[in-house]
Amino acid sequence: MKVINVIAELKEIVTSLKKQGKTIGFVPTMGYFHEGHLTLMRTAAEKTDYVVASIFVNPLQFGAGEDFEEYPRDLERDISLADSTGVKLVFTPGTAEMYPTGYATFVEVGQLTDKLCGGSRPGHFRGVATVVTKLFNIVNPDIAFFGQKDAQQALVLKKMAEDLNINVEIEIVPIVREPDGLAMSSRNKYLSSEERKSALVLSKALSLAQALIKSGARNTVELKREIINFISREPAARIDYVDILSFPGLKEIENINGQVIVALAVFIAGTRLIDNVILEV
Ligand code: PAJ
Repeated sequence: MKVINVIAELKEIVTSLKKQGKTIGFVPTMGYFHEGHLTLMRTAAEKTDYVVASIFVNPLQFGAGEDFEEYPRDLERDISLADSTGVKLVFTPGTAEMYPTGYATFVEVGQLTDKLCGGSRPGHFRGVATVVTKLFNIVNPDIAFFGQKDAQQALVLKKMAEDLNINVEIEIVPIVREPDGLAMSSRNKYLSSEERKSALVLSKALSLAQALIKSGARNTVELKREIINFISREPAARIDYVDILSFPGLKEIENINGQVIVALAVFIAGTRLIDNVILEV
């Protein structure tokens, strides 16, 4: 497995692979791998000839006061884990390689970005869309793999690729969870063992929503109230948002009909966690 941190070198490798008719799979990440990342990589290895994974903690998608500095990093461990999944190349650019002095171009996706995480993290999706556009242009993948864990991100990037005519297929991989239901996340590292238990409130709240909908509940205002009440009983939890929107359109709805996403962002002590489920009635 190759490890490359220079854009020009990566482009050269990809150009030569494409000439040989190889398909390129791409898994963009910010590193500190867990089973969610590794599942994306294994899926990519099954579906394409040559998998590139990138590790870049993108400063542009973190707001002021967020955890850019503290974001967990362990490059050596990540490289050996990626190797074990069949990834052929890990791209690990430095910040100056991605955003040299004088960098001035940004990608803004409308409509889908004003709610959920876009509402509570202004500028976040502009940072994501910008870095992923750059990565798509550098790697030139046939298929890029993203996790359902960041459902809104996946939708925003699909829309971006479509609107900007980027030649890439975007494939969404289901959420990988711990055995007790907690969605895997690099940020779970921030949780103490007590907070780790409290964090189960997210997946439990989604199970509650699922059960209520299964038993006939349809009104989103009432459902949100039930979910909020449930989460509020966990003392360590502070709700950022609870929402039920149409999927994939992310439109406000009064009553559930068709496909919907139930999405949550909850602070457990200082750690902001997200989770979601997509349901069809
Ligand atoms: P990161 O949080 O490292 O996630 C990289 C990819 O792994 C994303 O597509 C994310 O949805 C997926 N992922 C994370 N946890 C998962 C889980 N439990 N199950 C399935 N997939 C999971 O998302 C980013 O990085 C960045 O925003 C990035 C797209 C790399 C742009 O900087």
